[in-house]
Amino acid sequence: KNPTVSVVGSINMDLTVSTDVIPDQGETVLGNQFDTFPGGKGANQAVAAARLGANVHFFGAVGDDVFGSSLTKHLRDEGIHTDGIETFRNKGTGTATIILSEQDNRIIVARGANAEVTPEFAERFRSTILKSDLILLQLEIPVETVSYIVNLASQHQIPVILNPAPYQHLTKEIIEQVAYLTPNEAEWRQLAKLPATEAALDKMIITKGRYGAIYYENREKRRVSGYLVDVQDTTGAGDTFNGALAAQLAAGQSIQDAIEFANAAAALSITKLGAQNGMPDHAAVQRFMQNK
Ligand code: RIB
Ligand code: NA
Repeated sequence: KNPTVSVVGSINMDLTVSTDVIPDQGETVLGNQFDTFPGGKGANQAVAAARLGANVHFFGAVGDDVFGSSLTKHLRDEGIHTDGIETFRNKGTGTATIILSEQDNRIIVARGANAEVTPEFAERFRSTILKSDLILLQLEIPVETVSYIVNLASQHQIPVILNPAPYQHLTKEIIEQVAYLTPNEAEWRQLAKLPATEAALDKMIITKGRYGAIYYENREKRRVSGYLVDVQDTTGAGDTFNGALAAQLAAGQSIQDAIEFANAAAALSITKLGAQNGMPDHAAVQRFMQNK
């Protein structure tokens, strides 16, 4: 039986424009292609985990608009359980305005309905959430909700992976109660300043893009190497890593194997435009790892 992973998190419509020149203050430039892509860290991670074989339940909020209905349908088409998506009137669906250039990508998120994923919201889905083998969270929903779920999960011995993105301050309790934290290097610099982190070193999995990842075992640093691929769009690479990691750990893989697999999945995901385009299935990751 496939392991059940619950993701409580954000759904956004990504409004992506690629450009050779980034506008200066007060300047207008002509860009290249514009596209809309399904996104949001929560939804992206849910899709990655589902494509890699997990039975995924998604819990999140959309507005009463075309983005909301099309994003919900899209998740359903990916085989994800969407009974946990609520529609809020007088709210817009979350968006991410993404400027994609040679150098990097720049993203502005408007949270919209994602702000409605409150502790009360989570409480309404408590019994379904508690049926999970593993819970996967990010920080595009209010941190109080994350705190509530982490607490609930720890009372029921359900492991939680928390991807602390975008970074917000985490309480000592959250750090103590989660199974793993998966910061990127910038988030790690913030997290490393917290006293609670020192005692929780073995929970840290630090992603470093093409340089792979670092994790700790008995407080000793271990490195997992990354991949060099043809980059189209790095948006969602971290989400692919987290979704893959969750699917692998829920299926009982060792931490080392799960990280190696998640690194390969993330590398494949950046070879296509859009956060979710390019997220591989299980066979594609295995093929990629064998050919490297
Ligand atoms: O992690 C990538 C995601 O962050 C994008 O899909 C965008 O929606 C932003 O939330
Ligand atoms: Na992609």
